Amino acid sequence: MRAVQVFLAILFVAVAAADVQPIEPFKSYPNSCKAAKAKKDGIRKLQLNSGAPFQVFCDAKTPGAGWGWLVIQRRVDNRENFFRSWSNYQQGFGDLAGNYFIGLDLLNELTSDQPQELWVELLDYSGQTRYAHYDNFAVGNESNLYTLNKLGLYTGNAGDALRYQENMKFSTFDRDNDMSPKKNCASELSGAWWYNDCMTSNLNGLYLGGEYGNDLTGRGMVWKEWLGDNYSYKTVKMMIPLAAADFQPIEPYKTYPSSCKAAKAKKDGIYKIQLKGGEPFEVYCDAKTAGVGWLVIQRRVDANINFFRNWSSYQQGFGPLTNSFFIGLNRLHNLTAAEPQELYVHLEDFTGQKRFAKYSDFAIGNEANLYSLYKLGNFAGSAGDAFSYQRGMNFSTYDRDNDRSIHNCAAQFSGAWWYNSCMYSNLNGQYLGGEYGRDLEGRGMAWVQWLGINYSYKTVQMMIRPKN
Ligand SMILES: *[C@@H]1O[C@H](CO)[C@@H](O)[C@H](O)[C@H]1NC(C)=O
Ligand SMILES: *[C@@H]1O[C@H](CO)[C@@H](O)[C@H](O)[C@H]1NC(C)=O
Ligand SMILES: *[C@@H]1O[C@H](CO)[C@@H](O)[C@H](O)[C@H]1NC(C)=O
Ligand SMILES: *[C@@H]1O[C@H](CO)[C@@H](O)[C@H](O)[C@H]1NC(C)=O
Ligand SMILES: *[C@@H]1O[C@H](CO)[C@@H](O)[C@H](O)[C@H]1NC(C)=O
Ligand SMILES: *[C@@H]1O[C@H](CO)[C@@H](O)[C@H](O)[C@H]1NC(C)=O
Repeated sequence: MRAVQVFLAILFVAVAAADVQPIEPFKSYPNSCKAAKAKKDGIRKLQLNSGAPFQVFCDAKTPGAGWGWLVIQRRVDNRENFFRSWSNYQQGFGDLAGNYFIGLDLLNELTSDQPQELWVELLDYSGQTRYAHYDNFAVGNESNLYTLNKLGLYTGNAGDALRYQENMKFSTFDRDNDMSPKKNCASELSGAWWYNDCMTSNLNGLYLGGEYGNDLTGRGMVWKEWLGDNYSYKTVKMMIPLAAADFQPIEPYKTYPSSCKAAKAKKDGIYKIQLKGGEPFEVYCDAKTAGVGWLVIQRRVDANINFFRNWSSYQQGFGPLTNSFFIGLNRLHNLTAAEPQELYVHLEDFTGQKRFAKYSDFAIGNEANLYSLYKLGNFAGSAGDAFSYQRGMNFSTYDRDNDRSIHNCAAQFSGAWWYNSCMYSNLNGQYLGGEYGRDLEGRGMAWVQWLGINYSYKTVQMMIRPKN
């Protein structure tokens, strides 16, 4: 009995004396979003050397940045106060999935553990996004007052608004470490930053929601090199990758021509174009069929690509640009809404004869308008006018009957078109290879005014070109 008591007492003492911190001791975590192979946005646990694990937000979706980025600061709305004290900035604050600052101590640990890059992403209120990328980034420790030690080379399209802050110490309203002889920059600019005298960026400034007045100059979330010091962005995000991220520069300086005509595409082939405010995309430009500057919106060359497709397929488009394809109703709407276009329809039969139909105007509506053929100008050409009967009609597919017939024209004619009741042309019909039987009437790629309702052409190509 006595022996047992002694044993228990010893055990108790031993446990109490040991510095037991059971923090998931068996598990070790990756040391970066990259090492975590975080290919989806979300919160992850990381661990540096043998330190305690901590949570971060890994970003994998920012256009051009690639995956593997760790978000160190983010602003998305005005719900979080960023005008905070030194100790708040040391520790970090906010909500990992929303507005937050990671904390200067952790930032120092992260950036001294491995070489770093920095990615700053800004979004303005017109929906434009720009970025600044620095290929080396390091923040000092507390005894260095968290100096912005390294910045490396800049690339990007937002401007190099952090350079003026290089080698500066961090300042908050209650710890003035800036280079201004008289001012307390943090206090005057309602922020916390690596102030010089004082700044060309202030991303921890006030969330002021766009352009603001003279009286507040510099107090917003400023990135001067892009929209000046009276503009506070809609969202801001600062990220580091810890070990090189999967950085794929998106040719940020380049803007592409808005059409094949503007691209002065003198050879047939694939070109990149870009509509105002949109992402670049590839199109096929044709320079041989009817002169330069035509953009191919539809082509049929053989039976390999199925054109009897549903609504969403026609919305998105399908088929390879170099073969039989349809550009997609969404894109076609955008193109014809961007500037006035003319339309050229090229037809070739199986004897090698070529004819065409040209319309002086061509535009289709958006999704809400059921992509209606709301503009079709005057006809000219040798193939006959098989399209005017379709003018003003909504687009129909077999699963979205928007035609004027009591029948489902798309189903009846195995196509997808601006059917009236029903049609004199059916260029998305089946590739039937020439003249076909009565039982299939109208189901081929018909252009009635030239070879009738029972003839399916060898080649069809529809093209648009800006009028001006
Ligand atoms: C801070 O960093 C410097 C080097 O930049 C180093 O000499 C110093 O020991 C560090 N201080 C602490 C407390 O880690
Ligand atoms: C923006 O700030 C400048 C000073 O930098 C000032 O002259 C100008 O009037 C301000 N613009 C607006 C819209 O307040
Ligand atoms: C439309 O067709 C595509 C493939 O051709 C298919 O993935 C999709 O589910 C279809 N949509 C509807 C609404 O039937
Ligand atoms: C069409 O334009 C809208 C904005 O005007 C854009 O959101 C959309 O992505 C564009 N669609 C295509 C397929 O280009
Ligand atoms: C096209 O669709 C709209 C919306 O449903 C409808 O108001 C309009 O009458 C249709 N047009 C034709 C020509 O059927
Ligand atoms: C073509 O269609 C017409 C009716 O439009 C029909 O009379 C004729 O027999 C058809 N020709 C062939 C070869 O089937």
